[in-house]
Amino acid sequence: MAVSIDLSGQSAVVFGVANHRSIAWAIAQRFHEAGASLTVTYQNERMGRTVLDLVKDMDNTQAVECDVLDEASVAAAFDAATSRAPLAAVAHCVAFANKDDLAGDFSATGIDGFRLAMDVSAYSLLPVARLGAERMTDGGSIMTLTFHAADKVYPGYNIMGVAKAALENEVKQLASEFGQRNIRVNAISAGPLNTLAARGISGFTDMQKIHADHSPMRRNITQDEVGDAALFLASPLSTGITGTILYVDAGYNIMAV
Ligand SMILES: NC(=O)c1ccc[n+]([C@@H]2O[C@H](COP(=O)([O-])OP(=O)(O)OC[C@H]3O[C@@H](n4cnc5c(N)ncnc54)[C@H](O)[C@@H]3O)[C@@H](O)[C@H]2O)c1
Repeated sequence: MAVSIDLSGQSAVVFGVANHRSIAWAIAQRFHEAGASLTVTYQNERMGRTVLDLVKDMDNTQAVECDVLDEASVAAAFDAATSRAPLAAVAHCVAFANKDDLAGDFSATGIDGFRLAMDVSAYSLLPVARLGAERMTDGGSIMTLTFHAADKVYPGYNIMGVAKAALENEVKQLASEFGQRNIRVNAISAGPLNTLAARGISGFTDMQKIHADHSPMRRNITQDEVGDAALFLASPLSTGITGTILYVDAGYNIMAV
């Protein structure tokens, strides 16, 4: 029997589409191709113009505004999804830090910038997971996006390394909390990809080149490869996997040089 992934009759919500380069967008497209009833979110009206244009010709798809720091707006996004089909998959693809905090000395990070990065990039997974899990009537899969800087020092990544370390720990605690409800929580640790968020990191181009030069596969990854891994995590092919950090990085993380 040929293996195929069919998410029809199920809702998937993907948080954090800014434009066609967004990792969220690659994930959303894969979920849509698998037949899911798709809800994507954008942060504000300005980004909405681009995102509404992206989805305009897609069937079974809606785009809604959502600020992940506003619980009512997270709940409204989930309610918009569940009004169409039961919720089965959630992808949290959201992060932010002030540009000034993504360059220079890490020790110079101010408390406001520290809090902002942690709130948006780490804390926000909690309401997303809780409000999503509340609406998952028959188990489900929740995933977030992380980066190797959670573990190793990437000069320039600064406060976002702290946020990703916190996020990865949250994944484990949430996986433990929700496991008996058959709700899985995982993270994809993606290699560097040229997106709006990545462009804010000083030295990003060098980071991408170093990954390509030193990874076992001697290349960078693509957004589509992250989308494929996300579909796997949303699918019945991964029902035994929770609390995992899945590296989609052409193997870079195993190398010492
Ligand atoms: N690009 C990379 O190299 C890379 C590598 C590993 C992990 N990631 C992670 O992938 C995720 C997606 O980032 P991306 O690279 O696709 O960039 P992106 O800029 O396309 O996506 C980031 C999204 O976060 C949204 N966002 C920020 N603050 C928000 C808020 N308060 N409410 C709602 N949305 C908010 C932005 O609007 C944007 O849509 C992030 O968690 C990022 O850290 C990126």
